[in-house]
Amino acid sequence: MNKGVIISIRDLIVLVRFDDAQPFTGEILVAGNKERTILLVDNLRDDGVAICLNVRSEQSIQKGMAVERTGKGIEIPTGPKTVGRIFDALGQPLDELPSLYGDPEVKTRNIFKIPTGNTSFTVTKPQILETGIKVIDFFTPFVKGRKIGIIGGAGVGKTVLTMELIHNIAKSNAGLSFFTGIGERIREGHELFETLKERDLLKNTCMFFGQMNENPVQRALVGISAVSLAEYFRDEEGKDILFFADNMYRYIQARNELGTILGQIPSEGGYEPTIFSDVKVLQDRLSSSDKGSITAVQTIYVPADDLSDPAVQMIQHELDSIIVLSREVAEKGIRPAVDLLRTSSSLLSPDIVGDRHYVLSVQVQSLLQKHESLRGIIAIIGENELSPSDRADYAKARKLIEFFSQKMHVTEDLNGNKGESFTREQTLAGVEEIIV
Ligand SMILES: Nc1ncnc2c1ncn2[C@@H]1O[C@H](COP(=O)(O)OP(=O)(O)O)[C@@H](O)[C@H]1O
Ligand SMILES: [Mg+2]
Repeated sequence: MNKGVIISIRDLIVLVRFDDAQPFTGEILVAGNKERTILLVDNLRDDGVAICLNVRSEQSIQKGMAVERTGKGIEIPTGPKTVGRIFDALGQPLDELPSLYGDPEVKTRNIFKIPTGNTSFTVTKPQILETGIKVIDFFTPFVKGRKIGIIGGAGVGKTVLTMELIHNIAKSNAGLSFFTGIGERIREGHELFETLKERDLLKNTCMFFGQMNENPVQRALVGISAVSLAEYFRDEEGKDILFFADNMYRYIQARNELGTILGQIPSEGGYEPTIFSDVKVLQDRLSSSDKGSITAVQTIYVPADDLSDPAVQMIQHELDSIIVLSREVAEKGIRPAVDLLRTSSSLLSPDIVGDRHYVLSVQVQSLLQKHESLRGIIAIIGENELSPSDRADYAKARKLIEFFSQKMHVTEDLNGNKGESFTREQTLAGVEEIIV
């Protein structure tokens, strides 16, 4: 007997009693209603009651209803047929196309199963992927197999910058692109779909959405489902993958909401403690293996513009490069609104970007720092009181700040300004022209 019975329903939490044949944590159960409502076992109580989550928030389940075990965890479809498709957290289609479940040619994969085998990435030579965006190519070079974070408060341009990156590099990418929408606006997903379709990029893209209209169970799962399919393509088909996620902070938020529903006690900074290890596990899976690579770009929303938020800090530790977008810069009309002093990358080293780029980056950083400290002085004594060399450096820094602003292709329809792209060589030459 693999049957249980629903004994309580509260919010998304459904308690199911099993007299024998207990399900396992992470198992999918199916209720006996017409919708065959899916319940995900979150944990098991000592008295044999399974604490489950109502994954689709379906209202038609009732106390006393029978529930069947499936013996399986969450499985998503894999393989070539998933390319060009849009899925939800459970691998069901969000485009109008048929579901891939039950297709005899399609194998499925458990999303929590972490691939074994060689995941240590042996780099021969770091490969720089040019983005055409000056500020990124110069300060946070996009290196195959590494992780970039785009961090900032609401409305500072994280999504626009992510879309521009997809626009610029997906088309030059021979591999596969992934886009995962986590807890953001639904409209943005439609817009991305239309852009990719227009530019004939759907054939190289897989998309997953668990946006803000979805419940926290789906928002907490969708990133994991997407990573799992990316792992499939990396390991089984040897692909190089560009993985975009907007917004990784929403994953943490969804986990936190679930913690609250499940009655867990938050600790550090209002976050439930296991969230940090879950984030680590997810970030570790966004890695490369001896078969293929995953290069990840993720946006991170900063609550109340506070960069010291513990969750934001935690994700930052997992990244190779951090692009900080700031409201103060945006208010000056500079786009992309990058805070150049807070933006950093561990990949700006001579062996990765070359001596010329490295030396320029050190010079630029020092000019920007000088600019920052001179700003305070100028506010008190005025620019004319500066020494001639300070004044010259100040002017150079201002030119640099202006130089690193750039018009985006993806906002052409919004503001009528034609988008621009630059090679890394053009960017370096442009910097040299200003500072020498
Ligand atoms: N690089 C840019 N160029 C022009 N406008 C921009 C740019 N970045 C952001 N914007 C404007 O700011 C709005 C909010 O940007 P968005 O990327 O959605 O913010 P976030 O994702 O950080 O909340 C956009 O709808 C657009 O009007
Ligand atoms: Mg956004």
